[in-house]
Amino acid sequence: MADLYPVPQDWAKRARVNAEKYTQLYGRSLADPGSFWLEQARRLDWIKRPEIAGDWSFREEDFRITWFVDGRLNASANCIDRHLKTRPDQVAILWEPDEPGEEARRFTYRQLHAEVCRFANVLKAQGVQKGDRVTIYMPMIPEAAFAILACARIGAIHSVVFGGFSPEALAGRIQDCDSKIIVTADEGRRGGKRVPLKANVDASAAHASSLQKVIVVRATGGDVAMQDGRDVWYHEAARDVEADCPPEPMGAEDPLFILYTSGSTGKPKGVLHTTGGYLVWVSLTHELVFDYKPGTIYWCAADIGWVTGHSYILYGPLANGATTVMFEGVPNWPTPSRIWEVIDRHGIEILYTAPTALRALMREGDEYVKRTSRGSLKLLGTVGEPINPEAWRWYHDVVGGGRCPIVDTWWQTETGGALIAPLPGATDLKPGSATRPLPGVDPQIVDAEGEVLTGAAEGNLVIAKSWPGQMRTVWGDHGRFFQTYFTTYPGKYFTGDGARRDEDGYYWITGRVDDVLNVSGHRMGTAEVESALVLHAKVAEAAVVGMPHDIKGQGIYAYVTLNSGEEPSDALRKDLVAWVRTEIGPIASPDVIQFAPGLPKTRSGKIMRRILRKIAEGDISNLGDTSTLADPGVVDDLVANRAA
Ligand code: WTA
Repeated sequence: MADLYPVPQDWAKRARVNAEKYTQLYGRSLADPGSFWLEQARRLDWIKRPEIAGDWSFREEDFRITWFVDGRLNASANCIDRHLKTRPDQVAILWEPDEPGEEARRFTYRQLHAEVCRFANVLKAQGVQKGDRVTIYMPMIPEAAFAILACARIGAIHSVVFGGFSPEALAGRIQDCDSKIIVTADEGRRGGKRVPLKANVDASAAHASSLQKVIVVRATGGDVAMQDGRDVWYHEAARDVEADCPPEPMGAEDPLFILYTSGSTGKPKGVLHTTGGYLVWVSLTHELVFDYKPGTIYWCAADIGWVTGHSYILYGPLANGATTVMFEGVPNWPTPSRIWEVIDRHGIEILYTAPTALRALMREGDEYVKRTSRGSLKLLGTVGEPINPEAWRWYHDVVGGGRCPIVDTWWQTETGGALIAPLPGATDLKPGSATRPLPGVDPQIVDAEGEVLTGAAEGNLVIAKSWPGQMRTVWGDHGRFFQTYFTTYPGKYFTGDGARRDEDGYYWITGRVDDVLNVSGHRMGTAEVESALVLHAKVAEAAVVGMPHDIKGQGIYAYVTLNSGEEPSDALRKDLVAWVRTEIGPIASPDVIQFAPGLPKTRSGKIMRRILRKIAEGDISNLGDTSTLADPGVVDDLVANRAA
């Protein structure tokens, strides 16, 4: 039997939701979703309160997803203005700089209001209107949050692009949503290194013809070139605008943001979230999963460029009147004690981070943790990939001193917020399990034929009903939205993940079952890396699969066939890694490149990835049936020249 960590008694007593209340909430949410969700919607301030909850169908003939469609609200007003009466002087955003010696910056709700209004007025002055797409390519500085909330305030749709993406990747994301304006900074700082954000924007502009304006925040003071007529310094533009900016009334189904994410095909998808349902979802789940009480100092150590940053650094916590920490740096700089020092410095009670960071820190030894106090910590969270029980126990015992429950939250960019996660006052924990569904979430395990499996079972994870935080479309390609998520198992949302449900009804996510990798908690489509590789002049063909990796969870293993006449070499291998870094970004760097004179293909030309995966994993005793291959001899060569 798996280890069980029962709910600590004080948590069961103090938490908003105990086991009994969870059962009640969950039961009601599925039995009477209409009244349940209209009641939940009251957690927000509406300009017009909705009278309609969910109206949706996952079937082709009447496919639609809307929530609270007749409601009107503004997301930034919910994250800022409504707290001005109750907690104007409470810190809303607490910013910890990259350099540990530098002072932290704090913005109260009142100050946040002023900053966001000013940013919003700068955007307006640059011609941004409701519905326009604003690309945000920023380091982890408070101005990134101001820019995001400013978009929400004026009804512009933000599209945040992670600062680690290359100019090529950035250009594709600007162009796809036809964004005319980008907000960036001179440079970013991470772990003592500078990231040339403005220079990257300049380099991307050649491939992003829609781009007309660049707003540049001065962050490091580094030297950057400004192009007349196109580039604007934020601090100069901010001098000339009004201090107040009234929030724009938005329909609940008006778009709030686009966030690009990797899928199993080459091009990243622009996941679109709308205003009302998303905000209800992130606010509710943030409160339930973290048992959040306003004013508690809470740190989600993600980057704002990922959905975790959107939902659980900004929108969820701020809607709930939180003090949310934003960290510019990285966990292991200047030393592997950094995270724990930041916790002590600010008295942080809740920490939410990724298993990959924990594994990297665990490897450095307990000493770096133990020389800090961490006495303020009450609750720990993880997200982004399955957490191995060893890392879970280390997090629990060493980091949390055995006192803090761990909430392992399973979700996706597409889901807006957590769908399967324990509640600290309600759910006994099992290391490695995301445990049970949140209210309104109806997960099912299906087999390859779509048969719903009951009881303890393993298969593919689908969600049978819509929930308010669900994505509404793929930007510019509604057909692709339906095709990607609702055709594999008609009438159900297919997550792309495999899962097991145990005899207690607990869910164990086993990882992606499609061609998406999870590298250090970052999603990466194998097709994206392949497309980048074949753009190289010497490469004829490439096939990319995942391989087990101690720290990253999964590493990237690339099989590369060169053009005839080209010779494999270590120099070329390095060159190809550097090539992928410039095409996509450092997160896509292949860990292994194996030169392969041929790839295993069926007679119809389809690459047999199953075989490539097994070779990458080193599981060569069991390659399965290779008789359908066009040239079975290829496999022997691949095995003989395994590079890992
Ligand atoms: C994986 C991140 C196991 C999963 C919020 C999912 C997880 C993908 C967990 C989405 C978890 C996320 N346990 N696996 N707690 N959380 N995943 O879109 O494979 O960047 O489909 O969203 O990460 O990644 P995304």
